[in-house]
Amino acid sequence: MKVLTRESREAAGAAGAVVVRACVQANPDAVLGFATGSSPLPLYDALADFGLDFSGVRGFALDEYIGLPPGDPRSYGAVIDSEVVQRLGMRPGSVLLPDVAAGDLEAAAREYEQAIRDAGGVDLQILGIGHNGHLAFNEPGAALDSRTRVEQLAERTRRANARFFDSPDQVPTRCMTQGIGTILDARQLLLVAHGADKADIIARALQGPVTPDCPASALQLHPRVTVILDQAAAAGL
Ligand code: GLP
Repeated sequence: MKVLTRESREAAGAAGAVVVRACVQANPDAVLGFATGSSPLPLYDALADFGLDFSGVRGFALDEYIGLPPGDPRSYGAVIDSEVVQRLGMRPGSVLLPDVAAGDLEAAAREYEQAIRDAGGVDLQILGIGHNGHLAFNEPGAALDSRTRVEQLAERTRRANARFFDSPDQVPTRCMTQGIGTILDARQLLLVAHGADKADIIARALQGPVTPDCPASALQLHPRVTVILDQAAAAGL
């Protein structure tokens, strides 16, 4: 595992963007995995500034809320469209998300796994980390070999994500998320985190035991991981 520390979240984002740029320059038809949340936003900012050609790149999102109306601006589909697809100049529809509007959600989860396999797998997966160690929406207790499925959000995650909603009770209770096993299948992982509030969980994930109690500790099992932190998030290492 390669751990890089930068003095600010912007500098950490820029360093992350360099990793993504190298992947796309090596393979203009790369398959990227995109995360939502605030952690990857400085990376997306820096990547947009590079002005790379993303017309051949395809992508998969990690997760999506269940229960928001179609097109809701808080849905990860809407966020991926504005922060990733439009800003990077990707083809419309080139980033897939789990189909949470499907009548049969279990079938939709299986189809999402199949779509990732049909694309040849993910070359580079961008990740953030939740305060409780969640990866995507794999909350503590998730099996380290879990696959895409419907999950309940932990109350702590709902509270953390309430900032995007008018009130905490509007935060959906369910989601569809890639599993830890799905994420570990990506050929390269890139975790970005910033802020003092992430310092404890970063130390647990990178240096603590590999355990479902801290889903992000599964990163230690992957052969090709880059972690990019600002100084505040690296303070516990
Ligand atoms: C969210 C997302 C995760 C994200 C994490 C951290 O709930 N489902 O994919 O990595 O929580 O979010 P943030 O980067 O805003 O701290």
